[in-house]
Amino acid sequence: MNVALGPEPVGFDTIAVVDFGAQYAQLIARRVREAHVYSEIVPHSITAAELAARAPKGIILSGGPSSVYAEGAPRLDPAIFELDMPVLGICYGAQLLAQQLGGEVARTGVAEYGRTRLTRGPATTSALVGSWPEQSDVWMSHGDSIVAPPPGAVVTAATDQVAVAAFEDVAARRYAVQFHPEVVHTERGDELLKAFCLQVCDCRPTWTHVSVIEAAIDQVRQMVGTGRVLCALSGGVDSAVTAALVHKAIGDQLTCVFVDTGLMRAGEGEQVEETFRRQFGLDLVHVKAQDRFFGALAGLTDPEAKRKVIGELFVRVFEEVASEASGVGFLAQGTLYPDVIESGSGHAATIKTHHNVGGLPEDMELELVEPLRLLFKDEVRAIGEELGLPEELVWRQPFPGPGLAVRIVGEVTHERVELVRAADAIVLEEVRNAGLWRELWQSFAVLPAVRSVGVMGDERTYAYPIVVRAVTSDDAMTADWARLPHELLEQIAKRIINEVPGINRVAYDITSKPPGTIEWE
Ligand code: XMP
Repeated sequence: MNVALGPEPVGFDTIAVVDFGAQYAQLIARRVREAHVYSEIVPHSITAAELAARAPKGIILSGGPSSVYAEGAPRLDPAIFELDMPVLGICYGAQLLAQQLGGEVARTGVAEYGRTRLTRGPATTSALVGSWPEQSDVWMSHGDSIVAPPPGAVVTAATDQVAVAAFEDVAARRYAVQFHPEVVHTERGDELLKAFCLQVCDCRPTWTHVSVIEAAIDQVRQMVGTGRVLCALSGGVDSAVTAALVHKAIGDQLTCVFVDTGLMRAGEGEQVEETFRRQFGLDLVHVKAQDRFFGALAGLTDPEAKRKVIGELFVRVFEEVASEASGVGFLAQGTLYPDVIESGSGHAATIKTHHNVGGLPEDMELELVEPLRLLFKDEVRAIGEELGLPEELVWRQPFPGPGLAVRIVGEVTHERVELVRAADAIVLEEVRNAGLWRELWQSFAVLPAVRSVGVMGDERTYAYPIVVRAVTSDDAMTADWARLPHELLEQIAKRIINEVPGINRVAYDITSKPPGTIEWE
């Protein structure tokens, strides 16, 4: 596999978000993009020369879990402060700015966590907080406090507990806020970030869905030329938007492959056909490989063994199609920005072969085309809508590559897949009808390997139960079981029992992650 040539944010003003750990940087980067400015996350170990080479119009220092006094606490290359670029420090970033520039940070014994009343300096003309009401709510999360701003800076806001909740040095274009403007609980946080990007850094707000699509199309055309591109469609939103975007760029130079493993959700294959073949007129190879997958899975009960077999067979089937499609030089993949960041190479070219099922072969001589590699999931969805993909597809819940197989405990057979698929469709339909779709991360049915006694009509039954699982989550790293209304649970249970023969009991999984995982296998 050759190195990916991802699109570059050519032509967009950029804000660099320096990552000091935890999840703060991603949230800040997303908020900056909501202000229509491109943002990229860079590691805190970045040197001034490396940063200057990326030519951002401003720098935001994120919060982080450390204390500036902790041993090995991350710091910033001091030469970065010599670059002629505006800097905004947030929380840990604000303390670091204070400390590295000659102010003072202390463990005062005062900590602030959660919603906090902020009072701005009565006479401040600050570009960031000057237009705020005298008092407003902000979100705090700090143990150490800034007790003195650096020389040249003035304090622009305080709270009852801390005297320096925000400071700035307008001449040096250095700004700092102890609170978190990126979280929704800070009333005017989005305005603050927008003011920093547009007024202080003078960025042009040109990062819009339309311009992102245009830029991606241009770059895909440049990369691919007259070459041919292959794209594996999974039915999920990332691969669907990738395919739609690449198709818009190069039309019939793109061939999509949809491998039906027999382990998809209800209606997924039909929707891929309907959307891509009929609506987009795209060259689609629909491989009906159900029998091969069921054959390979026969007798297997170990979750890892099932995963491995599915992953390997997927690759084999895909390779067969690829070898038949002559002259293909590129493989399009739906890698997203969080995958790029997590692979530890925020801005270097990255290969991420593991995308959906298993991973694609290392020795395929294909160059990767990853038109979504600069985008967050919410941007991908917005672009999908802009490109005319159906809402149902754009708002699909995440679905594991090995499909329904990891929601069936024990052996995967045709019959058991039918049971879990039918129950799953009911869960999804009822969640949608209840208007809870976008509040849940995932909602689905699981088929355990136990049976229990029941009575239906006058008959004793001895059949499988369905476990309903619904969770809320931001990123799937942790998840909470969803407090679904009892009426909804009752409706789901009633329908599953009545409409799915072979199921005589429904249970609801009330385990969060951790200790549980989202999927059952
Ligand atoms: P767990 O079960 O580990 O799942 O809490 C976290 C998230 O990842 C999805 N998932 C997978 N996705 N291949 C995938 O592409 C897999 O093998 C896989 N296993 C779990 C899961 O649906 C959830 O969103």
